[in-house]
Amino acid sequence: MASTTYSPSPTTPLNIAVIGATGFGGSWLTKELISRGHRVTGLSRHPEKLGIHPLYTPKQLDITSDITVLAAAFAGFDVIVDEYGPHAAGFAALKYMPFLEVTRRVILAIKLARVPYFIKVGGTGSLHLPGQPHVSVLESPQWWLDYRRGIADSHAHVTYMEERLGPSGVALRGYRNARLALKAGTAGEVEEKVIKTYEQEVKNRDAAMEFVTACRTSFMFFEGRADFAWSFVSPSSLYRPGKRTGVYMWAYDVLPLKGDRNSAEAMEGRLHGISVADLAVAIADEAEERRHVGRHWTAWADLSDDTPAPSYVRIDE
Ligand SMILES: NC(=O)c1ccc[n+]([C@@H]2O[C@H](COP(=O)([O-])OP(=O)(O)OC[C@H]3O[C@@H](n4cnc5c(N)ncnc54)[C@H](OP(=O)(O)O)[C@@H]3O)[C@@H](O)[C@H]2O)c1
Repeated sequence: MASTTYSPSPTTPLNIAVIGATGFGGSWLTKELISRGHRVTGLSRHPEKLGIHPLYTPKQLDITSDITVLAAAFAGFDVIVDEYGPHAAGFAALKYMPFLEVTRRVILAIKLARVPYFIKVGGTGSLHLPGQPHVSVLESPQWWLDYRRGIADSHAHVTYMEERLGPSGVALRGYRNARLALKAGTAGEVEEKVIKTYEQEVKNRDAAMEFVTACRTSFMFFEGRADFAWSFVSPSSLYRPGKRTGVYMWAYDVLPLKGDRNSAEAMEGRLHGISVADLAVAIADEAEERRHVGRHWTAWADLSDDTPAPSYVRIDE
């Protein structure tokens, strides 16, 4: 485990492509890279949505295209960061497929185009529980419950989920309000039922399980490979819009926890998180410094500021 405070890099500007530059993670990352003087090409179906900046080139690409089409689009960059994801299309789009198929094709195209460095953004689910290297986070019902409780306890996180995921975000707001009432000692039968119903659904099978499983499995396309240069970053559990502190901690492979970090018992209130702005700092550092080549890593930061922040950013603001 290590801590990093970003200080402007003395390296020469890089030529970087961001797949999904208009998305949640991609837009904040593009803004961060541009602020450091790097040239960024945004690859997505509507890359022009991000705005206009002298260091930004939008290049239209459907990531489900043939591998040869992808390879042609990937050629010539120093680094490619994959921030492709289905969240922007709403909760119904959080499927096992096409995420895995897209990741498979992208890796083949990265190899074909001989891209010097490929950074893949995945999810928390591929990290493993402390002391249990064969148990990924998503296999822990306790993690799911404590994850949902952690999200619900943050006004900023619930606001983000409402904005992006529609009905699922609305259900989360109801759960948050019921939890607040319970803590305040004002909960009645209605609030108790809301909490019980919500948590029962999480315990049975959380609605995000399918997509989180896809992200977890996508890591298997990377682990142990030395035939291309990659890095796989898993945002820590509570990943949401928020302040850019510029300071983050990182670790390899294991779910980061507050308190006893070797114990996965009673994780409520112990899950770490990171703002999308700070994860962008960590990924930009990695693009410049290449400290985690061939490694699966996570990053977390101070999330004590619970002010809602935008999910997406434009570069010409
Ligand atoms: N959001 C979260 O809370 C969260 C949590 C943990 C991990 N992650 C991970 O972070 C990564 C990025 O997710 P995100 O939520 O930041 O992304 P997002 O907001 O859903 O953005 C998705 C991006 O992918 C692009 N895209 C979608 N379909 C495409 C296609 N067919 N061809 C080309 N581009 C396409 C979109 O651009 P166009 O519409 O212009 O094509 C958009 O820029 C994913 O691996 C996700 O699992 C996200």
